[in-house]
Amino acid sequence: MRKFNIKGKEPYEVFVGEKIIFEIGELIKQRLNFCCKVVLVCDELVFKIYGDIVKKSLEEAGFLVLIFSLKGEEKSKNFENLTRVYSFLFKNNVKRKDLILALGGGMVGDFAGFCAATYLRGIKFVNIPTTLLAQVDSSIGGKTAVNLKFGKNLVGVIKSPFLVVCDVFFLKTLSFRMFNAGVSEIIKMAAIFSKELFKILVKEKISNVLEDVIAKSIEIKKDVVEKDEFEKNVRMKLNFGHTVGHALEKALNFEIHHGEAVAVGMCFITKQSSKLGITNFKSYLKLKALLEKYSLPVETDVNFNLIFENIMADKKIFGDEINFCVMKKIGEGEIMSLPILKFKDFLKG
Ligand code: GLY
Repeated sequence: MRKFNIKGKEPYEVFVGEKIIFEIGELIKQRLNFCCKVVLVCDELVFKIYGDIVKKSLEEAGFLVLIFSLKGEEKSKNFENLTRVYSFLFKNNVKRKDLILALGGGMVGDFAGFCAATYLRGIKFVNIPTTLLAQVDSSIGGKTAVNLKFGKNLVGVIKSPFLVVCDVFFLKTLSFRMFNAGVSEIIKMAAIFSKELFKILVKEKISNVLEDVIAKSIEIKKDVVEKDEFEKNVRMKLNFGHTVGHALEKALNFEIHHGEAVAVGMCFITKQSSKLGITNFKSYLKLKALLEKYSLPVETDVNFNLIFENIMADKKIFGDEINFCVMKKIGEGEIMSLPILKFKDFLKG
């Protein structure tokens, strides 16, 4: 088992390993030094497979476990579910000394984290990400959010968890598609920060080096969020592929996985930046080939105007300008800022 200490406004620990969840109760108790209520906010399908293991471990350690389950899909990150969970917390007399534990993918982590950040102005939050994507990216760095009908993650805060446990045990039951959607975020991290990780992804069969690759991705993300917890500069690079990606997810009514939409977004933006000589063409081809190695989509037939319309609702627009990340070469990302109309021309090539 490996451990990372994430520094920041509220430091926390991240554990990576196999079958850690069997010990989750003791792990939390050792850090709290007391028992309390634990509200498991979980994906209903994940709960069917793993819920009993987590619940049993918590109960054996002396915690009182309450379950709030919901459909583990992006559409669940809405205000209706938020109201439901707040009512559940109130009716069950959940107080500031209690904690919320997310058990599920990125959607559950974002949603449960937002509940924990806002209920009673904030209660403790433990995140147990069960998808590859959530383990390597969304569970680290404290981003929490819910969606508005206008766009994804438009309401949210940065709330550090109390503890994150990335257990590779969960990944065995992920579908091929879900697994690869997670690899997309690892490729993103490699493309903008680590030539070395990119090489590993090209050369190796990922299943042979999975725990190392997860740990490496977390190490990269740790470095980024420690330098820029509140996304004022370098953290913006992690949005590589996300401007087009989020717009595409919305255009397809979230019937595409986040990692797949990001793969299309990375390819789209890099193709354009290579046309302008910002990215060398060979690097674009290498990125495209790596995404294809993991059966990820690299293009879309969704109408450009619809994608652009959705981009207009993006959080990364500051006044009349938009910030976005380009890959200059493998392992090197750069933030660019363009007036909206120039950005439209950039995307249209
Ligand atoms: N997922 C990008 C970030 O955490 O900043």
